[in-house]
Amino acid sequence: MIMELQWLLLEKDILNIKKKKMKILILGGGGREHAMGKKLLEDDHSIHLYFYPGNGGTSIIGRNIENHYTVLDLGFFAKKNAIDITIVGSEFFLLEGVVDIFQNLGLKIVGPHYLAAKLEGNRIFAKSFMEKYGIRTPKYNIFSCYEKAINFLKKNTNSIAIKTNGIAAGKGVILSHNQNDAIKALKNIMIEKKFGKSGNQIIIEEFLQGKEASIISIFNGKNIIPFLSAKDYKKIGENETGLNTGGMGAIVPNPYITNSIWIDFKKNILEPTLKGLIMEKLTFFGFLYFGLMITYNKVYLLEYNTRIGDPEAQTLFPLMKSNFLNLIQSSFQHQEISIDWKKLCSCCVVLSSRGYPEKYESGKIIEGVNSLKEPFYIAGAEIKQKKWITSSGRVLNIVGIGNTIQEARKKAYEKVQTIQFENLYFRRDIGL
Ligand code: GLY
Repeated sequence: MIMELQWLLLEKDILNIKKKKMKILILGGGGREHAMGKKLLEDDHSIHLYFYPGNGGTSIIGRNIENHYTVLDLGFFAKKNAIDITIVGSEFFLLEGVVDIFQNLGLKIVGPHYLAAKLEGNRIFAKSFMEKYGIRTPKYNIFSCYEKAINFLKKNTNSIAIKTNGIAAGKGVILSHNQNDAIKALKNIMIEKKFGKSGNQIIIEEFLQGKEASIISIFNGKNIIPFLSAKDYKKIGENETGLNTGGMGAIVPNPYITNSIWIDFKKNILEPTLKGLIMEKLTFFGFLYFGLMITYNKVYLLEYNTRIGDPEAQTLFPLMKSNFLNLIQSSFQHQEISIDWKKLCSCCVVLSSRGYPEKYESGKIIEGVNSLKEPFYIAGAEIKQKKWITSSGRVLNIVGIGNTIQEARKKAYEKVQTIQFENLYFRRDIGL
């Protein structure tokens, strides 16, 4: 009788463990975080999602934390609510040291600690790392003195990229094709402090003409496991014209990443990066993004990001066959992982508020969201009185999937036709 009772209790315990919902907190409030959340739920409906700050889309699939929190507050929140795993979407949190804080509180978190996040947050640190480990990158010079930078420019007539040392919310890169523009840009950054302290030190980098590519990967502290390649469309205008944005669209895979470029990338960028990370004790468990330029059959590393890209995430997750949470959990346990992908292509078009990335209006009613076919992701939109309303520059991410990029792009643009809001703007050349 006692034995039977013990068995019954044991069975109840096992059932309770099975029933225990995983609680996952995702940090960020864009389309990338909505895409991550949707993928996690697609793989396992029982997961309980929290987002900070989240958006209208994430409020449907999980709970948005509405208080205004510092990263330390978020740590206490995660502790109090027994969050099992936190995934950092936006670099903002990484550069506030969220990983170190969470780890000190004994919490599991996916992302680099503060020192490793400097690979994204401090361009001079990243370039020095690349140089030290022989990672192929455009030539560069560093300046903290305006006069010295001007003298350098006066002797240099080539096209250049001027980059602030800090990332300046993604805005601190200015391409210049003539001396006058370069001098004007330098004055804006170093004298007028248009990008604040980020411009106290700058990099003047050789400008490379070519095709851009993004390769995002999981780094488990021992290996770097790349995702499919992606191509991001960074400029606001068609044919890559106008101001830089967070990204106006993306395709996967990137057609310029041929077999030979992939081999070149592994040999001259990925492998020396891995060696450098281990030698410098910059190992972490999180994502590493290689921002690349392909030119004359050689690939160069322009920058690292220490997170998944946006809108690359929205383009990649619909093609991921593997269970995303299993990949994360296996990496935490230092198990080897391999990622399975659907043999399809994907195209994401970003719908934005006209005027972005500068001044734009919000609060516009969006028609058509409720009848949109998956996959699509909410970026800057919220629900007010049962209506979808624009709340940011990048509003909605519409994704098409197909056997070819052409097919994927056609499907994405067909879906775009079903959405309307005042001042809607999008690029018509994504995937062309
Ligand atoms: N799409 C580029 C980025 O996420 O930084």
